[in-house]
Amino acid sequence: MTRPKVFITRQIPAAGLDLIRAECEVDLWPSELPPTPAELKQHVHGVDGILSLLTDPITAETMDEAGPQLRVISNYAVGYNNIDIAAATARGIAVGNTPDVLTDATADFAFALMLAAGRRIPQGEQNVRSGQWQTWGPQTLLGADFAQATLGIIGYGRIGQAMARRARGFDMHILFYDPTTKVDSLAEKVEVDELFARADVITLHAPLNEQTRHMLDAEAFAHMKPNCILVNTARGELIDPQALYQALHTRQIFAAAIDVTEPEPLPVDSPLLTLDNLIITPHIASASIHTRDEMAVLAARNLMAGLRGEKLPFCVNR
Ligand code: GLV
Ligand code: GLV
Repeated sequence: MTRPKVFITRQIPAAGLDLIRAECEVDLWPSELPPTPAELKQHVHGVDGILSLLTDPITAETMDEAGPQLRVISNYAVGYNNIDIAAATARGIAVGNTPDVLTDATADFAFALMLAAGRRIPQGEQNVRSGQWQTWGPQTLLGADFAQATLGIIGYGRIGQAMARRARGFDMHILFYDPTTKVDSLAEKVEVDELFARADVITLHAPLNEQTRHMLDAEAFAHMKPNCILVNTARGELIDPQALYQALHTRQIFAAAIDVTEPEPLPVDSPLLTLDNLIITPHIASASIHTRDEMAVLAARNLMAGLRGEKLPFCVNR
């Protein structure tokens, strides 16, 4: 029996790669950087399955370039905005993603960003390293309180709910905005404008789509409280970067901490990098050792189920 052919767009942890190698003929992209669109096109030609990363745009053209034998695209991510889902569905191609296994790691990181921005940890660290620390100061680097503060969660799926569980342990009041979730015992459901107006911290956990793109624009920032801390571990495109710059530069809000940017990577001459009330990390919220192994195993299971014509453990276009 011939082994199915798959293209894997980057080196993923061995925990998943070994499972795939046991059953498939693997073309593994060797570089640390993603394949260019031309390289992607060339490597998908004739494959039965693709294991993609969020950095790889999988368009209708990519699918047609692969050919009609392509039956599964397994994304090594919970988000799948890099894939044209409608085009995959129209071609009978199953698309898989990796939810659940990264929920806690991502929520931990969003929570860490919230605390770091509110308590100005990077600025404190910078002061020490640069020799500016002269003495203990009653008013040095004053920041936010979290107990009794109000957390507004936008997108109340698995990760948003994991944020609520953490926030409860910190004695926070919790609001959420999510058009698809009804009521919840931990958090109060509100409209988005009310969330903007009431929250001391806003954290984003919504998928990127045409409804959510730039949902945080200048008007949204204008509704927020001056002490507001904004955290984004979802997708950079949820925030209008110019509006974010203005809101932070003019101190319309207190601080932001973002793990995702538009574009990615952020150019080193981005004006955002001149702000002292913004923390930026390089899209690493799910980057714990164990989580990345689990994601690799799940992406492998999705891929191989699709190759066998079975139901994917996590399919986004069932
Ligand atoms: C990371 O951003 C993911 O979607 O898994
Ligand atoms: C701070 O270090 C304190 O002792 O209050």
